[in-house]
Amino acid sequence: MSIAPAPETIRTRLSRVDGQAGELVIGGYRLEDLAPQATFEEVVYLLWHDRLPNSAELTKHRRQLAEERALSPQARQAVQAAVEQGAGSMDALRLAVETQVLDGPSEASESREAWLQQALRMVARMPVLVAAYARFRRGQEPADPPGDLGHAAAYLYAVQGSPADPEAIRALETYFNSVIDHGLNASTLAARVVASTHSDMIAAVAAALAALKGPLHGGAPGPALDMMKEIERRRSASGRSLEAETEDYVRQTVAAGGRLMGFGHRIYKVRDPRADVLSRAAEQLAVDPQRADFLRRAKAIEQVTLRVLEELKPGRNLRTNVEFYTALLLECVGLPSDLFTPTFAVARVAGWTAHILEQRFEGRLIRPQEEYVGEVGRRWAPASRR
Ligand code: CMC
Repeated sequence: MSIAPAPETIRTRLSRVDGQAGELVIGGYRLEDLAPQATFEEVVYLLWHDRLPNSAELTKHRRQLAEERALSPQARQAVQAAVEQGAGSMDALRLAVETQVLDGPSEASESREAWLQQALRMVARMPVLVAAYARFRRGQEPADPPGDLGHAAAYLYAVQGSPADPEAIRALETYFNSVIDHGLNASTLAARVVASTHSDMIAAVAAALAALKGPLHGGAPGPALDMMKEIERRRSASGRSLEAETEDYVRQTVAAGGRLMGFGHRIYKVRDPRADVLSRAAEQLAVDPQRADFLRRAKAIEQVTLRVLEELKPGRNLRTNVEFYTALLLECVGLPSDLFTPTFAVARVAGWTAHILEQRFEGRLIRPQEEYVGEVGRRWAPASRR
């Protein structure tokens, strides 16, 4: 007699993803309403406390984040060693996050307040870790952002070593808010599984980072930009139109069993709503002719890709996902493409920590029922008789 696998549902109040309607709700607010208007700190507070902060609470929350925004000597050493060994940005980030074990006992305290303090530290430090990687790789020393900067501004300062334009900061803030949380995606689930065993915050975030690295999840925007550059390279070599080169590229990629990065989604069967929010943010940033031209050409590539995918993969509903527009927006902001996935982590870590808190203090052990599809009744025989 076979036992039917029991579905295990995880309850959350953090975000709701409606893949049929193409809607995303974060902490009760529609993405389109929240992302372009709120500061990142406000949305972090919303996820941790299930309400937006008032002015006094926001000031305190910003100050606390700024105070924790330090690069510890151990993290600095880890990032530097990773760069010297030629490690990729996500590997360096995971290594650096793990060094927080050395900052003090990581053993889980029973109080939510103590876990919240760890969450604050995790969110505050992520941008300086990523920025340190970026700067060491360019042969520069890490830059210490002034304490009065908000999270997005501090991140850009830490990467560039100088204050960023207000337009770039706003665009990055909209991006951070758009990707801060997204239901039970792979990295969030990984974090919740670890938290559900009553392990600790650092371990849960490290697990999430490991899942985010993969190109089917957070690793797609760099390759999406590479794809656009490759199509442009072929176009300038051949003298053919952008549309013709894109069509060939898509056909060749699919024929070879490859995937178009930035297209398709497990949940969204219509356009990913984050793509539109990021598209508008990128347009507001792309006021100079060069960026405007880049965006126009990227959108032409997008349209041809959608058309050819519909022809080659009918009925699969392969639409543009968040990563395609992430690539466009972060390119316009001026970040190098190997920082795209770590930049995703700078935002998503806030969602992870909120899920970790929810799982740790309201959830139970996550243990899905497997469905066994292997043999039964095999008889053991020693190696000499197999
Ligand atoms: N390019 C070409 N074909 C595709 C693509 C794509 N991007 N995505 C799916 N397909 C095809 C796939 O080959 C399969 O075809 P067939 O039925 O002939 O075998 C069919 O569509 C269904 O694919 P699937 O793998 O069963 O679908 P999935 O729900 O497991 O995949 C996905 C979701 C996001 C992994 C996939 O669409 C993909 O690999 N996209 C490219 C990578 C990417 O953009 N990742 C970022 C995802 S969004 C960020 C996030 O929220 O984490």
